Amino acid sequence: MRLSIVKINGIILLILALTGFFFFIYGDKDRGEPNPTISFHFNVVTAALNNSESLPACKMNTSMESIVDFSKLPEHIKDFLLYKHCRSFPQILNSPDKCGGPAASKNVFLLLAIKSSPSNYERRVAIRKTWGKETSYEGAHVKRIFLSGTSKNEREDRHLRHLLQIESQTYGDILQWDFHDTFFNLTLKQFLFHVWLDDYCPGANFIFNGDDDVFVNTFNVITYLQNNEPDKHLFVGHLIANSRPDRIAASKYYVPVQVTASDSYPMYCPGGGILMSKYTAHVIYNNSQEIELFPIDDVYLGMCLAKSKLVPASHMGMRIEGVHVPSTKLDPFNPCYYRELLLVHRFLPYQMLVMWKAIQDPHLDCGQKLFI
Ligand SMILES: *[C@@H]1O[C@H](CO)[C@@H](O)[C@H](O)[C@H]1NC(C)=O
Ligand SMILES: *[C@@H]1O[C@H](CO)[C@@H](O)[C@H](O)[C@H]1NC(C)=O
Ligand SMILES: *[C@@H]1O[C@H](CO)[C@@H](O)[C@H](O)[C@H]1NC(C)=O
Ligand SMILES: *[C@@H]1O[C@H](CO)[C@@H](O)[C@H](O)[C@H]1NC(C)=O
Repeated sequence: MRLSIVKINGIILLILALTGFFFFIYGDKDRGEPNPTISFHFNVVTAALNNSESLPACKMNTSMESIVDFSKLPEHIKDFLLYKHCRSFPQILNSPDKCGGPAASKNVFLLLAIKSSPSNYERRVAIRKTWGKETSYEGAHVKRIFLSGTSKNEREDRHLRHLLQIESQTYGDILQWDFHDTFFNLTLKQFLFHVWLDDYCPGANFIFNGDDDVFVNTFNVITYLQNNEPDKHLFVGHLIANSRPDRIAASKYYVPVQVTASDSYPMYCPGGGILMSKYTAHVIYNNSQEIELFPIDDVYLGMCLAKSKLVPASHMGMRIEGVHVPSTKLDPFNPCYYRELLLVHRFLPYQMLVMWKAIQDPHLDCGQKLFI
């Protein structure tokens, strides 16, 4: 049904575009060489969308330019410093009733909050069909939301806004804010998610927060969480302790002294996959209001926990670095490995589909217990 509506929309737009095109060619001969660009078509698409009203754009902090050696910093770090005070961005797409409203949101057992760049369409498709299904696991209600920003490339951005608009209308599972979805803006995404959570879904008992290229064994996650309390501290993943800022300029994780003079990081869990309780999510929200944004999102969460003297914890089943099979003769893509785990990084969309079916196969024979 919906597909055909989209099709009809597309046809109408195409007709409009062609009308414009022919008018352009035949309607005004004096102009010489017609230069019919495709932009007419996309302007129509954009005009048809209901973009959120714009907040006054946050201005860059030009006094940053006077800090020591600013001009020698890589562009993305300059960018981070110039804009790190900006925290309010218009929300382009929302899903206000995701949890049934703030009061009813206590009925949500697990909210899956998945960070997904606008172009990662195939990953979202696979997640919706597999571990991210909105369903009830023997009374434990699961809800799903994707967290997205915008593309830096202007033309791509127009197409992708349209794509997310369609996905939002079809599945009601997109939160999109008007900021560039870049690596160093992931903290901003996390910050805005906690603001959203506090407004629209404060009662959700537990939150999974992670990337769109992980495989989550939702069955095991629910069983694990059912042995925990939503009103107590819980923050588990793959624990990293005694880590420090990477000072190698070519590294993806490079954080120069101009960003932090500190030589150590608090304990944290990689942002690829984390489970937290309602209590802990609220503490993070509260503390994040006063902690300056830091370019590495998972370290930032560690800072928010540390402020309240809460510690993150490790869980054996959270395999952010993938599984290590004992021999190259063994197939790492063996469902027997994944049946016991909570989460594994990283999976291709087709692998999610295959593995999701395989771990549920009642005839899956794993023989002796596998240790990985
Ligand atoms: C369109 O935008 C207005 C103003 O921001 C908002 O109130 C309304 O809910 C939006 N409609 C849709 C369908 O998103
Ligand atoms: C702008 O940058 C300067 C220099 O780092 C800093 O002292 C000031 O607090 C910043 N202003 C805002 C609004 O963040
Ligand atoms: C974060 O997003 C804002 C708004 O789009 C943008 O101005 C800024 O350059 C981005 N920062 C980084 C580090 O990409
Ligand atoms: C929120 O943070 C403030 C200071 O940062 C603290 O005084 C307050 O107790 C916190 N509230 C909760 C509910 O964590």
